[in-house]
Amino acid sequence: MHFSLSFITFGLAAVQLAAALPRDYQQPSRRSSVGELNDVLVFDAPAFEDPTNTGNTIVQLQAYVSTPQISIAPFLASVGSFLNETIGLNIGSDLSLPASRLALFATFGLSGKDVSVDVSGCGNEATLQPTADGGMAIQNLSIGACGSSSTLGTVDLSDSRNINFTVFPSSSDGFGVISDIDDTVKVSHTLDKLQLAKATLLDNPVPVTNMPAVYSALAKSLNSPQFIYVSGSPFQLYPFLRDFIATTYADAKGPIMLQNLTTTDLSDLLNFAGACCRCSLSY
Ligand SMILES: *[C@@H]1O[C@H](CO)[C@@H](O)[C@H](O)[C@H]1NC(C)=O
Ligand SMILES: *[C@@H]1O[C@H](CO)[C@@H](O)[C@H](O)[C@H]1NC(C)=O
Ligand SMILES: *[C@@H]1O[C@H](CO)[C@@H](O)[C@H](O)[C@H]1NC(C)=O
Ligand SMILES: *[C@@H]1O[C@H](CO)[C@@H](O)[C@H](O)[C@H]1NC(C)=O
Repeated sequence: MHFSLSFITFGLAAVQLAAALPRDYQQPSRRSSVGELNDVLVFDAPAFEDPTNTGNTIVQLQAYVSTPQISIAPFLASVGSFLNETIGLNIGSDLSLPASRLALFATFGLSGKDVSVDVSGCGNEATLQPTADGGMAIQNLSIGACGSSSTLGTVDLSDSRNINFTVFPSSSDGFGVISDIDDTVKVSHTLDKLQLAKATLLDNPVPVTNMPAVYSALAKSLNSPQFIYVSGSPFQLYPFLRDFIATTYADAKGPIMLQNLTTTDLSDLLNFAGACCRCSLSY
């Protein structure tokens, strides 16, 4: 089946612009801490033993700082019948679900933001390098001695929000499981763009048959390996995918590595077909 997605691309670019225009966003040369008008997302983070300082932990910390999320339901309402008539995607009348799945696409990444975190059980507070253009910062940071079980990190903020993430340390021996998400643990229909759009925007996520049981069994037989998930999906889908893994693969939780796309191009969202590995095992 062939159809053009360029108009959706255009539409979301317009949302992005609308979201960005009324806000006073930071110039890249400026630098400041995360304020109460900023949203911050810190991704669940993989961690490993510091090879140069045994017993200490290095965490690969990644944060996204942006303008607050706005509702894009009015925008979806205005393009709904057009999508239905042209590509046969019926987004229906309850727009809250697709709007929440797309919410991060309508944020504007802020550069020059300093994100500091505390990770419980580890010695050191850690501050990421300031966010780059696009609002993203990713860095390996030494956070002291954390031990070997997963632990909760929180973002230091001047307001009362509780923004947290999980740190998953991999031990230096034993197994790890690196797994693709799309059509490996979750039905995504990566080969059919209309079905992919439905599964991504509209449907409750469905696990691939038997995979939750397979991963539970792996978790047992490999003696709690660290699971790491990779997907070609843009990071804007992280909250959706994280919820899915946390609830459907509760015995096999782990960090989720997504594409570092800073564009709000929906065709990128729908182009992640088969970008990475199948499920594989490694030491
Ligand atoms: C979508 O199109 C179908 C026919 O192709 C129609 O039956 C349905 O009512 C339309 N739905 C919306 C929300 O426009
Ligand atoms: C993601 O984007 C940030 C900011 O542009 C950059 O610093 C980082 O290296 C990128 N990461 C990857 C894995 O491409
Ligand atoms: C963090 O360290 C690991 C292991 O050396 C490396 O594979 C990864 O690319 C590093 N990440 C960053 C953001 O530098
Ligand atoms: C982590 O943050 C969520 C909100 O995003 C909150 O519901 C939860 O209680 C927090 N967890 C802890 C242990 O603080």
